[in-house]
Amino acid sequence: MELILIGFMGSGKTTVSLLLGEMLNTPVTDLDVEIVRRADMPIADIFAQNGEPYFRQLEHDTLAEILKSDQGILATGGGTPMRPDNLAMLKDTPTPVVLLKASATETLRRIGGDNGRPLAQSLDEKGIADMQAQRQVNYNACADLTIKTDGLSPAAIAKEIISFLN
Ligand code: S3P
Repeated sequence: MELILIGFMGSGKTTVSLLLGEMLNTPVTDLDVEIVRRADMPIADIFAQNGEPYFRQLEHDTLAEILKSDQGILATGGGTPMRPDNLAMLKDTPTPVVLLKASATETLRRIGGDNGRPLAQSLDEKGIADMQAQRQVNYNACADLTIKTDGLSPAAIAKEIISFLN
């Protein structure tokens, strides 16, 4: 991998990874997309039919495999760094890890009521802020760069990441 993006749901990982892929002319892998492909069903269905532990195992196995590849950009899922073995992999990898951070207000605006995100569906702004705070420790533990994205366009975020990489 050349770059790994982490961050809470709705922080812009997917959007920014696709833009960076174009700008750097490198392949982009989205962990959620890869999981959906392997399970052959949407994330919400995996949660509903098999439960979160099954999803997390699939997420772990897929992450471990993708990290072996030396090319491209990886956009992780918001919960990926929460499993200790995933966190260890993200800490140990020589690949730069960039954390995208959005405020709870902005996050709610983007993901509120999203049926495709089973963990976000019922969260209000306070619920999002609490979950962000809970996850922050792990995010910080593996991030080499943190970008506060409120008010920044995807292009501005991508530019900041590229200057960090250079
Ligand atoms: C999750 C985030 C989602 C997806 C799943 C669980 C989480 O990815 O992996 O719904 O635990 O935060 P995004 O961060 O891409 O929404």
